[in-house]
Amino acid sequence: MTVDKIPTHLALIMDGNGRWAKRRGLPRLMGHRAGLRRLEEMVRMVKKRGIRYFSAYVFSTENWNRPQMEVEGLMSLFRHYIRRKVSDLKAEGGRLRFCGRRDRIPGDLLAMMREAEEETKDQTTIDFILCLNYGGRAEILDAINALIADGHRGEVTEADLRRFFYLPDVPDPDLIVRTSGELRISNFWMWESAYSEFYFTDIHWPDFDERELDRALEHYAARDRRYGGLKS
Ligand code: IPE
Ligand code: IPE
Ligand code: MG
Repeated sequence: MTVDKIPTHLALIMDGNGRWAKRRGLPRLMGHRAGLRRLEEMVRMVKKRGIRYFSAYVFSTENWNRPQMEVEGLMSLFRHYIRRKVSDLKAEGGRLRFCGRRDRIPGDLLAMMREAEEETKDQTTIDFILCLNYGGRAEILDAINALIADGHRGEVTEADLRRFFYLPDVPDPDLIVRTSGELRISNFWMWESAYSEFYFTDIHWPDFDERELDRALEHYAARDRRYGGLKS
């Protein structure tokens, strides 16, 4: 199906991997594995619909509080994803970018992230952004500290601050989708979501398919975005 109003930036809180696994009597990591597989497929579907920026929240600054085994398992899955997918993504015109704090991430994974960004930097069909070790509050604080370190004097404007965000050139998300029934933002795109539209579904992330994507996009197309102004 086609919808006439497509978001420029679609953002995703891929939640429910653990519950998906639990329901099947599987360990949580199997849920994460299924979730990352689904994400790979989703990039293709999102690209097919002409969406220019696709960001996915894969690991928050708070997710370090999970058991060590789960954290390490997730880091390994990220390694596998990068190893397996970068050349495919590049061949399809995809640019892989990472958004978040670079501290705490294991050194070898960090090196792979940098290489993947370098390898795909000239691709222009879709920016696929993995928000890994991302926190909205951390991003705002990091920007403030960078601004101070840069020697900024006087009043700070929105544009001044934005210059120091992790990905200043990426437009704010038009639509944020969260799966698995939780009705909260969990520290995702704190600043950038000021005028985002939200779509929530009870479906666990590994079950979110093409039909669900179109459902979310149809809801988005029917929204009237006013930005505090009057109805057009
Ligand atoms: C989302 O799935 C993925 C990450 C946070 C890494 P969860 O692991 O949060 O799954 P639930 O919410 O426990 O079901
Ligand atoms: C948000 O999910 C983070 C990611 C999807 C990576 P969480 O499962 O960590 O969020 P809470 O704890 O339910 O708010
Ligand atoms: Mg969760």
